[in-house]
Amino acid sequence: MARDPGRVLIFDTTLRDGEQSPGASLNLEEKLAIAQQLARLGVDIIEAGFPFASPGDFNAVQRIAESVGHADGPVICGLARAAAGDIKACADAVAPAVRRRIHTFIATSDIHLEHKLRKSRAEVLAITGDMVDYARSLVDDVEFSCEDAGRSDPEFMYEVIEAAIKAGATTINIPDTVGYTTPAEFGELIAGINAHVPNIDQAVISVHGHNDLGLAVANFLEAVKNGARQLECTINGIGERAGNASLEELVMALHVRRSYFNPFLGRPPESTEPLTGVRTEEITKTSRLVSNLTGMAVQPNKAIVGANAFAHESGIHQDGVLKNRLTYEIIDARTVGLSDNRISLGKLSGRSAFRARLEELGYELTREDLDDAFARFKELADRKREITDRDLEAIVSEQVQQYDEGRFTLKSVQVSCGTGLQPTATVTLITADGAEITEAAIGTGPVDAVCQALNRLAQVPNELVEFSVKSVTEGIDAMGEVTIRLRHQGVLYSGHAADTDIVVAAAQAFVNALNRLLNGSHQQPLHPQKAPLPQLGDLPLADRPRV
Ligand code: KIV
Ligand code: ZN
Repeated sequence: MARDPGRVLIFDTTLRDGEQSPGASLNLEEKLAIAQQLARLGVDIIEAGFPFASPGDFNAVQRIAESVGHADGPVICGLARAAAGDIKACADAVAPAVRRRIHTFIATSDIHLEHKLRKSRAEVLAITGDMVDYARSLVDDVEFSCEDAGRSDPEFMYEVIEAAIKAGATTINIPDTVGYTTPAEFGELIAGINAHVPNIDQAVISVHGHNDLGLAVANFLEAVKNGARQLECTINGIGERAGNASLEELVMALHVRRSYFNPFLGRPPESTEPLTGVRTEEITKTSRLVSNLTGMAVQPNKAIVGANAFAHESGIHQDGVLKNRLTYEIIDARTVGLSDNRISLGKLSGRSAFRARLEELGYELTREDLDDAFARFKELADRKREITDRDLEAIVSEQVQQYDEGRFTLKSVQVSCGTGLQPTATVTLITADGAEITEAAIGTGPVDAVCQALNRLAQVPNELVEFSVKSVTEGIDAMGEVTIRLRHQGVLYSGHAADTDIVVAAAQAFVNALNRLLNGSHQQPLHPQKAPLPQLGDLPLADRPRV
């Protein structure tokens, strides 16, 4: 890849850094659904995961490489610590993709060297050269990151970057790992790298940053002005702690303020050529999919994708907008695909119309999944007069959630509640071996009673830390979407479901979270940044790099 790709490359790390958010872990089908939507969105690179973490993570990256990594699709990238075992696993996992990348990293700040790596600067410099060289012997496209760049000594970082490029790195990523820098400082850091690394013209400069001070997007825009040409970001800004720079905010800032940014890319201000390859009309749909599948709700006032981002509630604003939209609007809601919520199907629509509409929305289901989704659609159509695209999306995203090798399937739920009654729930589940088990419980309300009954059936200690309900569409017959988060041994597990009956949605969401807990609690994957860096000797002889 040339040093200056002529536009800003969008590197999406929702499936890697985003999935590192507490409680956001995804099953294979969910990862595939998100990767397919990211490809429709038009991101340049998908960081699909950290293959060395666990067999499940390896498999997910490999399946994404197979299904999304075709010739005109995005580059499929995997993360690897600067360790041979990680790099080898990463190369194997991304192998099915036509365009594949290994992203390897090591920390460069003294605080990380002393307390995390327990290595000297000279050792880190040597590891960088060796491991980038090894990665480059396996793939043509290698990205190298200086972890905690924001707090690293720039002079040392220049040396490490030079060594990485010399060993074959084609992209150099500068992460503000702890979200510490301010926009001016971050811009200067990128300018310094451009000025002081002698071979920097042979690599694309990338940035990665966390939002601990709410500055990640501002930092990245400053980096673009100083020569960064790849932005690492996530949908809805999810990620470690306060999250990553949000893709939708970056893309729309570069879209809306194109004439301001154009000159920094050597274009005349009036150039209408897009600054990124993202299809902005896919943004809202992608945001909803990621929110539904990760259980990470989007705050209503979140820029671009929050429920209020395009709502003109106040009278003065509405009056102004009716006279001329430009009085209070800088983005037409259609640009981000917001108004595409047409009434798509009704009670009499058949299976082929249903399939066709799902395909138009970008969902291609297997025959079996289509049968299940169609049955759910028919049930819904009996209860709800008009089925909109949002309803269809809710049905399909719930379908994908059920792929956790379900220990339990919800068979039925009944509640009795009301004035003067003690809320009571009776729940029947089907276990993995096909047995039916039933329990009844009382609670402070019908949902509490349902959760108590489910807990008696599942018998795994957990704490309910979040329960939220929101309606999918407007109207009294709208489906309610329920998101539940459970904590078990310090780890969060989320579940999501939608139904016109919110008690049923709550029961299904709770079962989804329990299944995820039961699947996840026995195989906690390795954390790429917190697990100790393995030594060279950890890798079987045959797989050792040529150092
Ligand atoms: O925040 C960070 O430094 C990272 C690296 C692994 C790129 O996520
Ligand atoms: Zn990160």
